Amino acid sequence: MTSFERLKAFAEQKLSQLEATGQRRSLVETARETGGRAARAGRDVISFCDNDYLSLSHDARVTQAAADAARLYGAGSGGSRLITGNHPLNAALEDRLARLKGTEGARVFGSGFLANLGTIPALVGKGDTIVMDELAHACMHGGARLSGAQVRLFRHNDVAEAARLVKDAAGQVLLLTETVFSMDGDVAPLSELGALAEATGAWLMTDDAHGLGVVKQDNPAQIQMGTLSKAVGGYGGYVCGPAPLMDLLTSRARSFVYTTGLPPPVLAAAIAALDVMEAEPERGAKASRHAALFCELLGLPAPSSVIVPIIIGPEAEAMRVSAALLERGYLVTAIRPPTVPAGTARLRVTFAAGHEEADVRAFAGALKEIMELACAVTL
Ligand SMILES: Cc1ncc(COP(=O)(O)O)c(C=O)c1O
Repeated sequence: MTSFERLKAFAEQKLSQLEATGQRRSLVETARETGGRAARAGRDVISFCDNDYLSLSHDARVTQAAADAARLYGAGSGGSRLITGNHPLNAALEDRLARLKGTEGARVFGSGFLANLGTIPALVGKGDTIVMDELAHACMHGGARLSGAQVRLFRHNDVAEAARLVKDAAGQVLLLTETVFSMDGDVAPLSELGALAEATGAWLMTDDAHGLGVVKQDNPAQIQMGTLSKAVGGYGGYVCGPAPLMDLLTSRARSFVYTTGLPPPVLAAAIAALDVMEAEPERGAKASRHAALFCELLGLPAPSSVIVPIIIGPEAEAMRVSAALLERGYLVTAIRPPTVPAGTARLRVTFAAGHEEADVRAFAGALKEIMELACAVTL
């Protein structure tokens, strides 16, 4: 066999293993439109699973800012931020984010994933300890692993267990959690974790990917990371914190140093979106009202965010409910392990400012009927 043939055989064998365990993933073409609408593989649907919580990705003010910046400054940044990719819009966006978060500074990264991968290893390394919520996002786990520090997981939101792990930890301790958990929609006990950090000399770093713009929390974390790809409606990541830490990231975060700066249209879109977010807080409130109405209609506990998980359990069942919803014109993809723990396959339902109340009522009715008719799991 040639090397090319052996490579193909290798990939095919790996794919059949994934197929056998139900973990093979595939792409479906999805063209998003306004009002939560989308064309999914040619079918018109209303999406209840995207992260564009404030529906800013299609806001005319945001798309106009991106178009203007593309015409004025080009489609790409031309280099890493330390070479020629540091367009002035970066500083404008960083000032904006620092002001929003009440921190001394901010650093914009290529994505939220890159922000976590680069920041965590710049803070701790061999001889140090990371104490993190077991449900923290894959990129926090990735950054933790890259750092070389010992990684200790505490049970989801269990501050007492976190405190025990911090007590036994070596070196500098970094506590990691999400503010709003991406797959469950619940919130972290931030004030308790902040107090734990303060009492023990640990640093607290939070991932606010799903909080910004929708869930207001007092956040005592010294390091506040987030993304521009969800409520901000665009792309990119950020870290906010003390000014010298921002300077340290400029020199030491490898996913900042060795990658191309964000394109000017992306930066301009984020600034325009933050303007709208601040001027129109009712957008977040509307999305939250939709989540609350949905839970009320289905008899679920009141939500803490605009993410409502419907835990189904078996993967095949979750896929079946998702397919039945699609038949009726609703897009909610099934989330399966390893993205969520084994046995907790779910529909991750999300709400946005662009949905209308009638959409939410009709969707809740459809889901209820499908769950009653076609699913062994009851709500
Ligand atoms: C909690 C959390 N952190 C980080 C990320 C990564 O952010 P980005 O999409 O900007 O890479 C995501 C989602 O993608 C997320 O859900």
